[in-house]
Amino acid sequence: MNIIPQKHSILVVDDTHTNLKILFDLLSNQGYRVAIAKNGEAALEKLESYLPELILLDVMMPGIDGFETCKRLKDNPNTQDIPVIFMTALSDSGNKVKGLNAGAVDYITKPINHEEVLARIEIHLQLKNLKTLEGMVNERTTELTETLENLKRAQVQLVQKEKMSSLGKLVAGVAHEINNPVNFIHGNLKHIQQYSLGLLQLVELYQKHYPQPEKEIQDYAEELELEFLQEDLSKIISSMTIGSNRIRQIVLSLRNFSRLDEAEFKPVNLHEGIESTLLILQHRFKTSSKNPAIEVIRKYSELPMVECYSSKLNQVFMNILANAIDALEESIDSGNKEPTIVISTSELLNKWVEIRIADNGNGISEETSSKIFDPFFTTKPIGSGTGLGLSISHQIITDKHGGKLECYSTLGQGTEFVIQIKSSQP
Ligand SMILES: Nc1ncnc2c1ncn2[C@@H]1O[C@H](COP(=O)(O)OP(=O)(O)OP(=O)(O)O)[C@@H](O)[C@H]1O
Ligand SMILES: [Mg+2]
Repeated sequence: MNIIPQKHSILVVDDTHTNLKILFDLLSNQGYRVAIAKNGEAALEKLESYLPELILLDVMMPGIDGFETCKRLKDNPNTQDIPVIFMTALSDSGNKVKGLNAGAVDYITKPINHEEVLARIEIHLQLKNLKTLEGMVNERTTELTETLENLKRAQVQLVQKEKMSSLGKLVAGVAHEINNPVNFIHGNLKHIQQYSLGLLQLVELYQKHYPQPEKEIQDYAEELELEFLQEDLSKIISSMTIGSNRIRQIVLSLRNFSRLDEAEFKPVNLHEGIESTLLILQHRFKTSSKNPAIEVIRKYSELPMVECYSSKLNQVFMNILANAIDALEESIDSGNKEPTIVISTSELLNKWVEIRIADNGNGISEETSSKIFDPFFTTKPIGSGTGLGLSISHQIITDKHGGKLECYSTLGQGTEFVIQIKSSQP
């Protein structure tokens, strides 16, 4: 059975007419498409417009010989993969070695034995086929690996998006619910202040004009501790005003953080985003029965407004700060007495801005640091970390904003994350 598909193309290069004729007839009869060239130059010229699947190449030719021709074929990316079989005299073992060194896959000896030529050609065409197949399989494998990576990234994004969107919704919902009653209290505090001031003045007027009131009034004033009340009431009201202002700020920050309504790209004040995020994490900075308070040091510089997806950027601040707090809590267990986070911002050249978030926790080992941006990589106990925070943050900074997110850490000393983004997109 002839398993070579018909119409494989072969170029025969030989300066002897008889040889060319013999090979042409032999190969054509076998169904090959045969082209011929009479010397090395002619072969190279032909190969500029025609690529056979195999080349039979004579060694001894006038002009450039077979070795040089072969070398040039192997140097040219278009022809380097075409298998070359040398034709050389039987006794010429030196040339056989030289030919193989020049890049030939095989040799046949002259005078030509028909069966041998056909067998060798068949084998090398099959080998070439296999190589092409192998190449295709490799290509396909790379493609599939890439698809798999993309799929993984998409899944990661989805999980984090769901997580963040439900957190965002919750935060926005709570903020909305609190907003109305707080405004109600805040708005009415002014009236209470006025009314109570009026009542106090009225009492003072009474006291001025009736310094000796009835005994019942005197007793009641004593019971009420009227003097203290007169002094304290306005203080209470001003601290209530401060309190309600604070709640309003918190509500504003919560809305600022979730920014569900603002998915688009627009200029924002980054410090506002950082502050809102800090506020949301506030409870984790405070002293607890087991942990000393974490100090947050701000080293803010004047920053331009930054064009970005602000809720996404807040998500990055949240992930990095939450990681820093986790790391600091761990370091407190191993003796860190002054857990600190330093947040610095600065404007760089060419409209870039930089945000650095550093902690003096235990740092990251070299082995771990190469993996922290990988999805699902976590060193935290099962159930407490998903390992998505940094991978998603990296994506947000690099893919969504064309920026850079880098991590510098020294084991035992701390970790610093550096975010760089352009303040305005071209
Ligand atoms: N400031 C830091 N100090 C020390 N290690 C850190 C710090 N930030 C990140 N890491 C390491 O990087 C790992 C990956 O962080 P990443 O935020 O991606 O996931 P995670 O915090 O484990 O889980 P989550 O998805 O809940 O954020 C962490 O498990 C931790 O080992
Ligand atoms: Mg994390």
